[in-house]
Amino acid sequence: MRTFAVINQKGGCGKTTVAINLAAALGELEKKVLLVDLDPQCHASLGLDIPYDSVEHTTYDLLRDPRIMVADVACELGDHLDVVPSSPVLSAVEQELAGREGREMRLASKLARVGAEYDYVIIDSPPSVGLLTFNALMAAGEAIIPVEPSFFSLQGLEKLRETLDLLESETKHAVQIRILVNNIEKQTTFCREIVSELERRYRDEVLDAMISHSVRYKESAMRGVSIFGIPRSDRLQWEYLTLARELDEKTSLIYTEDIGGWMERLHGPRVLREGVLFTLDAPGAANVRLTGEFTGWSSEGLHMARDGGDGLWKVTVDLEPGEYEYRFIVDGVWIKDPRNVDSVLNEFGQENSLLIV
Ligand SMILES: Nc1ncnc2c1ncn2[C@@H]1O[C@H](COP(=O)(O)OP(=O)(O)O)[C@@H](O)[C@H]1O
Ligand SMILES: [Mg+2]
Repeated sequence: MRTFAVINQKGGCGKTTVAINLAAALGELEKKVLLVDLDPQCHASLGLDIPYDSVEHTTYDLLRDPRIMVADVACELGDHLDVVPSSPVLSAVEQELAGREGREMRLASKLARVGAEYDYVIIDSPPSVGLLTFNALMAAGEAIIPVEPSFFSLQGLEKLRETLDLLESETKHAVQIRILVNNIEKQTTFCREIVSELERRYRDEVLDAMISHSVRYKESAMRGVSIFGIPRSDRLQWEYLTLARELDEKTSLIYTEDIGGWMERLHGPRVLREGVLFTLDAPGAANVRLTGEFTGWSSEGLHMARDGGDGLWKVTVDLEPGEYEYRFIVDGVWIKDPRNVDSVLNEFGQENSLLIV
């Protein structure tokens, strides 16, 4: 599974149009695609005729509720495309999650559990660099940046690169940049100049495929379909197919095999054949215990053993499939699992870690 975040802090540069039509083009190539609408303006959902007021769950629930999984929110649109619709309430998420640990990993955490069901995940993001865009970037291996051939776009691109560099130095999560020239009128000298300037500055990051200007994109959005649903658009469809093939031939930084590693980093305990392995890194601790619903929340809990000379404490517990809340007790202090982004508030207003087996 490869994940693309379609990003650009500039509104109206074609993020949603690219997300929808690239998803459709990859579908034409028989790839299974998940399109995630991460913009509270819901343009991708509306552009594919999914009204947010008629669906039960949206990206808002996916980010907010640890029990809601991608399969609970995805709407099927034909054999090759599933869409997670958005909702205007998504704009409240930034405030609601303020100060919460791991808040920028919420989407990555859900996508890490999807497995090999999809070949591609495409995330449409809002025109600002806030929590939602960081969620898109942390979940993605590649960022597709649509740019219009204009002087201001070049400036914007420079700022976006700084943001991505900062993200990499802060989180060690690298995202491969793919610049897509959109809305181009190839015949003009000005366009050609801008494109060669882009290629001079960004070299391999600029995709060979480019997308022409056409009123048909407005028309297709209005009709709630991709360009593949508009008759007599062969040339435009061909451009998107060329883009899809080019991307499909490139290799990505994050491979499906890595998802195993992500699972652990994001969800703490590992479900193994012999039971669920809980681990906690606490080199300075003298006594570590695990307690939760499965021990009746006893303060005795289950004894965790120090693994060799390093500070990793371990215990394996036999658990039936289901949901379990738990905490660690480190030298008498109750803490949540620092390696698990899934948690729920308990009656004392503290967070219990949540494990779904
Ligand atoms: N290649 C294109 N040719 C003509 N119009 C386009 C093209 N790409 C996007 N548009 C139009 O530009 C407007 C903004 O595009 P949109 O995808 O919504 O941008 P964003 O998601 O970045 O805000 C829309 O009306 C869309 O139909
Ligand atoms: Mg948009």
